Amino acid sequence: MKNHLSNIKKSKFYLDNDECIGIPTETVYGLAGNAYSDKAVSKIFRLKKRPKSNPLIVHYSNLKMLKNDCHINKLFIKLKNKFCPGPLTFILKLKKESKISKFVTNGKKTLAVRFPSHRLTRKLLSSLDYPIAAPSANISTKISPVSKEDVKEEFGKKIKFILDGGRSKIGLESTIINLIKKPQILRLGGIEIEKINKTLNSKLKFFNKKHKISSPGQNKLHYSPGIPIKMNVKVPNRSEAFMLIKKRKRSDKNYFYLSKKKDLKEIAKNLYKTLRIIKRKKFKSIAVEKIPKRGLGLSINDRLNRASKK
Ligand code: TXA
Ligand code: MG
Repeated sequence: MKNHLSNIKKSKFYLDNDECIGIPTETVYGLAGNAYSDKAVSKIFRLKKRPKSNPLIVHYSNLKMLKNDCHINKLFIKLKNKFCPGPLTFILKLKKESKISKFVTNGKKTLAVRFPSHRLTRKLLSSLDYPIAAPSANISTKISPVSKEDVKEEFGKKIKFILDGGRSKIGLESTIINLIKKPQILRLGGIEIEKINKTLNSKLKFFNKKHKISSPGQNKLHYSPGIPIKMNVKVPNRSEAFMLIKKRKRSDKNYFYLSKKKDLKEIAKNLYKTLRIIKRKKFKSIAVEKIPKRGLGLSINDRLNRASKK
């Protein structure tokens, strides 16, 4: 406990001084900086090698602070009450008087916001008098990190501190919903689209191509381990890594279980970790068993599809 407290103090110290640090969230680890500071936010873009045109998500601990920066509406309140804190990001209208650095939004009039549920990050956020801008803590287009070690693998000594919050529980990024006009799902993620539809009494679907421009980070080359991925494979080649979701009688050296019982939560949690392990073992290609296309399975298939594009 004492250790956690001093680590939160340390994190606060770095953030107060416009430094970037790694922070844990329930989805993936983030590369965090003071969202009101041009200096901190430019550092995030530099470290990640992220195009300046791709805006960041801003993380809040409470509604009061969020209201300083954006306009809210009824749908937002409904979804927030149901799913937050948790893996849901909202696109809202930025207020004119907001202090959010212009680099966060690349000058756009909209802002992506979320309330992460990870205990340590909530503690950290509530100790700050500014919100935190945090993209996933990986080099642009690469695999998102789900542990302190993964963040270290991405940035080494280039960042001063990583707040260790253990393995990310969900293992996939947040779902993004645009609430500016008619609600639109811009990214599949940790909250199932079916649950959002139930709450809003709606029939939202995810149309990736159509909305590519409104969420620039949703381009094809994303989440990539840098080697080809084949989807819906029944029998793999012996030389390729095989990611499985249910137990087989045979077990080979190239078998990597995401789950042994088709559990979608477990598959999501293990996905990025397993991609990293396979990459480290220098396999030249990856085959994946068919993953059901419902609930979290939609998000998992989406990530693998993007990762499989060369
Ligand atoms: O789970 C998550 O959301 C993680 C953790 C760290 O919170 N963060 C994350 O951030 O995934 P990032 O930067 O890797 O992805 C943010 C996505 C990008 O695809 C970006 O284009 C989109 O959010 N985005 C940000 N601001 C936007 C805006 N104003 N309008 C549309 N899309 C936006
Ligand atoms: Mg990312």
